[in-house]
Amino acid sequence: STEEKVDKILKELTLEEKVGQMTQITLDVITKGENVFVSDEPLTLDQKLLEEAIKKYKIGSVLNTANNRARTPEKWNEVITQIQKLAMKEIGVPVLYGVDAIHGTTYTAGATFFPQQIGMAATWNPDLNKQGCAVTAYETRASSIPWDFSPVLDMGRNPAWPRIWETYGEDVYLTSQMGIAAVDGYEGVNNDLSDETKVAACIKHFIGYGSEKSGKDRTPSYLPEVELREHYMPSYKAAIDAGAHTIMINSGIINGTPVHASYKLLTELLKEELGFKGLVVTDWADIENLHNRDKVADTHKEAVKQSINAGIDMSMVPYNFKFADYLIELVQEGEVPMSRIDDAVRRILTVKMELGLFEKPAPKVKEYPDFGSEKHEKIAYNAASESITLLKNNKDILPLKEGTKLLVTGPNANSMRTLNGGWTYSWQGEKVEEFAKDYNTILEAVENKFGKENVKFAAGVEYNHEGQYYEEKNIDIDAAVKAAEGTDVILLCLGENTYTETPGNLHDLYISQNQRKLAEALAKTGKPVVLVLNEGRPRLISQFESEMTAVVHTYLPGNFGGDALADILSGEVNPSGKLPYSYPMYPNSLGTYDHKPSEASEKMEGMYDYNSSLPLQYAFGHGLSYTTFDYSDITISKSDIGPDEQFTVKVKVKNTGNRAGKEVVQLYSKDLYASITPDNKRLRRFEKINLEAGESQEVVFTLKARDLAFVDADLNWTVEKGEFRFMIDDQSVSLNVSETKKFDKLSN
Ligand code: IFM
Repeated sequence: STEEKVDKILKELTLEEKVGQMTQITLDVITKGENVFVSDEPLTLDQKLLEEAIKKYKIGSVLNTANNRARTPEKWNEVITQIQKLAMKEIGVPVLYGVDAIHGTTYTAGATFFPQQIGMAATWNPDLNKQGCAVTAYETRASSIPWDFSPVLDMGRNPAWPRIWETYGEDVYLTSQMGIAAVDGYEGVNNDLSDETKVAACIKHFIGYGSEKSGKDRTPSYLPEVELREHYMPSYKAAIDAGAHTIMINSGIINGTPVHASYKLLTELLKEELGFKGLVVTDWADIENLHNRDKVADTHKEAVKQSINAGIDMSMVPYNFKFADYLIELVQEGEVPMSRIDDAVRRILTVKMELGLFEKPAPKVKEYPDFGSEKHEKIAYNAASESITLLKNNKDILPLKEGTKLLVTGPNANSMRTLNGGWTYSWQGEKVEEFAKDYNTILEAVENKFGKENVKFAAGVEYNHEGQYYEEKNIDIDAAVKAAEGTDVILLCLGENTYTETPGNLHDLYISQNQRKLAEALAKTGKPVVLVLNEGRPRLISQFESEMTAVVHTYLPGNFGGDALADILSGEVNPSGKLPYSYPMYPNSLGTYDHKPSEASEKMEGMYDYNSSLPLQYAFGHGLSYTTFDYSDITISKSDIGPDEQFTVKVKVKNTGNRAGKEVVQLYSKDLYASITPDNKRLRRFEKINLEAGESQEVVFTLKARDLAFVDADLNWTVEKGEFRFMIDDQSVSLNVSETKKFDKLSN
């Protein structure tokens, strides 16, 4: 069995070799020493450095960001084969290679790029997400890389956070469903990693990342355990139960404790309570950060001790080998028990063994004929077109009539870079234009669809790629206004340039001043303006939104986003995306749909109205179609149930318009009274259905009383007796739970 084989290898390894297995370096450590973030040099390994890493430090893992730019699968195969040959010869254990293939195989030229996770969430179609992740697994493996640092299962509950687009949005149920689909896509439903079209998934970043008080990346979070367990833990539990093999840790600090040093979160919660049997890897330099940044360890060595004893199995150590030296000393001094080392190495070897790396450390590239194929690209196109969300459509301006003369404008109109976002060919997305030349920007796709002769272009505002991601240049609003002359409709493409992680931190959630001015000036022409949003987080547009005739959100739709948008504008595709987060209206009214009643209170004629909603630009779950759907006949199978019972909620949905369309049927529940103030409402089930014009369908949701549980003051999932209301669109029905029951801590 794998277990026996792993134990046999473990017995043969020296302490140095074991610690080596726990060490992950970046590829630039063994290349010619160029700066990882800027070099355009061809990728060549430095044999001397490689030998030092493998012979002296016995490294067990490499992180694939060398030179931070794309290479062909053949190139990756050549490089990885070179490393594996030496590792097998010297240690007899293959290296585990990892990459951030978060919406496609990030650093591989010619790979298929999907919408970023937030767009995949907007499809509300887990099966499509699974298909997309399966393609990414295949193309990553085709690049000889068997380990993918994806999916992100953190919650996108703070709109300012620069990684919100890497999440599946604000709701933990939607995130869980998408997370399960992602793990199934990457690893296969049986998690059989010996299948060489699969990769080991890495769910990240456990736990509470993204809940930063300031909305800025890697700044402190204050997260009560009730909230942590109810809103942040279920997505991890779902993915762990789905068999995810590896997990990456939150770089941040929660309630003052860095997660990388938290025995409570890493060992007690993750490994014991949640029963995670896989490999736990740090985020970038986060052991060093316990000393350098977070100041809980007065030396680097102390930082190593704290993190390994807390439950870290592998250290992402980008810059040096001190980690290994310190860890060996700590074991020799009895500060880190040998049993902890053996546990970590056993977890690492198990993943390598299950991946079949001992037999085949780097598969042959030619065994992957579907790499970058039309078949794969079709899935990426489908995902982009199902993600795009029609938020507003006054006077049914969309779809545009044939022969419409268009002005296409805005900084996002002619950019492959902004369609893709970060982690595309390079970390901050700087290399997209170079590698995505064959795909269509919004402008190019609109020209193809509506005829070049019908389309004018003037950017009005451009991003300054030489500066920070938010800097702009060539502001010429007058030129855009002038170009609008003689056109019928203005397609205004606004949003953000690319970024990720801390470089994407933001001071002001409003869309840039230049872009606002452009919108206002174009609105003054009196022509209908269709606002296309192409952004990683919901930038505030309330100052001019009322002047926009239509609003379409594309998120970061990937290489096929331009084509998918053009097909929606022309009416060839009926939009079916729904918002996976609450789109805020004001900077002081940020919040999620599942807020507490008092969070949304507004002073109404001297009284407080605790039943109002947050003042939002667009609500969670919102998204229009070119057809209309009518909901009727909601029923519930029982009106009274015990806490262990099951029930069904049914509703009839009819397509009452004159064209086929997809609709996301969303079931919410509301606990009327509870011992902990209940959330406004909670998403409990959803299903995306396809209805022809005039067609009806009954949608049936099956739930258990337990699905209605919340985390109580004792941290148990509890369902309390009393009334619950269920809402689907404008339909609602009630249920009475007859008895209170405390389930255990994990039962939801
Ligand atoms: O996987 C990423 C993580 O999401 C952010 N820091 C760097 C890691 C490796 O590239």
